[in-house]
Amino acid sequence: MLVLGIETSCDETAVAVVDETRHIHANLVLSQIDEHRPYGGVVPEIAARAHVEHLDGLVAQAMEAAGAGFGDLDGVAATAGPGLIGGVMVGLMTGKAIAAVHGLPLAAVNHLEGHALSARLGGGLDFPYLLLLISGGHCQLLVVEDVGAYTRLGTTIDDAVGEAFDKTAKMLGLGFPGGPAVERAASAGDPRRFKLPRPLKGREGCHFSFSGLKTAVWYAVKEQGGEKQQLSRQTAADLAASFQAAVADVLCDRTENALALMRERYPDASDFVVAGGVAANELLRARLDELAATNGFTMSAPPPELCTDNGAMIAWAGIERLSRGLSDSLDAPPRARWPLDPDAAKAPGAGAKE
Ligand code: KG4
Ligand code: ZN
Repeated sequence: MLVLGIETSCDETAVAVVDETRHIHANLVLSQIDEHRPYGGVVPEIAARAHVEHLDGLVAQAMEAAGAGFGDLDGVAATAGPGLIGGVMVGLMTGKAIAAVHGLPLAAVNHLEGHALSARLGGGLDFPYLLLLISGGHCQLLVVEDVGAYTRLGTTIDDAVGEAFDKTAKMLGLGFPGGPAVERAASAGDPRRFKLPRPLKGREGCHFSFSGLKTAVWYAVKEQGGEKQQLSRQTAADLAASFQAAVADVLCDRTENALALMRERYPDASDFVVAGGVAANELLRARLDELAATNGFTMSAPPPELCTDNGAMIAWAGIERLSRGLSDSLDAPPRARWPLDPDAAKAPGAGAKE
C-alpha cells in the first residue's frame, strides 16, 4: 500500500510518500519560517497563503522523488485538523482533489493521531502504549489503545509546552522558532543559576501547567535588567538552561504518575512513547528515557525530523487507517479543534485545553 501524505495544519507545508512496509519514499518539508520571522510567530493568514502557493509544487516534487505516478498510489492522507483552519482547508482540499481525480480512498487524518502513531513508523511498537504528546499546541498524556482509540490521562490547563519554549525564546531574544533556539542556548548555560518553579510537581494526577513558569522567566528577565537583546549572552543561556531543566522536571514528574496508571491498567504493557515537535529536544528525550527505564518501561521516540510536523507521519496514519478499512468521504470537514479523546474533552470540570 503506497500512500501520499499531506500536512498543512501549521507553518510547514509537508508532503510524503510512504508504504506499508514503513519505507519512506519521499518526505519533503517546506518551512515558512522566513515568512513568519518578522512577526515573531506564526501568522495564520500568511501560513494559509503560503500553503496555497507551494503545496501543488511540493506534491509534484514528492511524487517525482518517490519515482511514483498518481496511478501507483493506493490512497491519499491529508491532515483534517486540528490546526490553523486556513491551512487545514488547503491541504485537505488538495488531498480530496487528488483522491477524487484518481479514484483513491481518502484518509482525513487527525494531526494528533499522526504524532501519536509516528513512533510505529519505526517498527517494533505494539499497542497499547503510553504517549506523551508535546508540541506547539498540545501537552498531553494518553493511553494509545489502538488506531482511533485513545484515553487521555492528562493535559495542560493553560499553555502547551512548545508554546512555553517559543515564548521563553522571545523573552530571551533568542528568535524564532523558539524550541530549537532555547535548546541551543541552553547547551552553554547553567541550569542551576535561576530557581524557577516546577508547576504541579508532586501533585496527584497527570495534568500540566506552564503559565507560571513562563511568568517566572519574565520576572527573571526583568530582574536581570532588561528585555530581549539587553540580556548578556551568558544570562540568556543560563535562563534557557534553567527553563529547560524546569520543563524536564515537570514532564518527568507528570509522566511518572501516568506510568503508574498505565501499569495499573495494563500490567503487561511496557512501552512509553514521546512524540510531537518538542520531543526533538535532546535533554528532554534523555531525561524521559531515564525515567522510563527506572520505572520498567522502554521509551521510544521518532527521529527528530519525524517529531516536528511532517508528511510521513500523516501518510503513516493514513496507512494505519486505510489498512483497517477506515476511509473518509469527500465531505470530511476541516476542523480547527479535534480532540483525540472526545470523552475527556467533554468531562465536566476538566478545565483543560483539549
Ligand atoms: O509538532 P510541531 O512541529 O507542531 C505542532 O503540531 O505544534 O511542534 C512545534 C513545536 C514548537 O513550539 C517548537 O518550538 C517546538 O515544537 N520544538 C522544540 C524543539 N524543536 C521544536 N522544542 C524544544 N526543543 C526542540 N529542539
Ligand atoms: Zn504537530
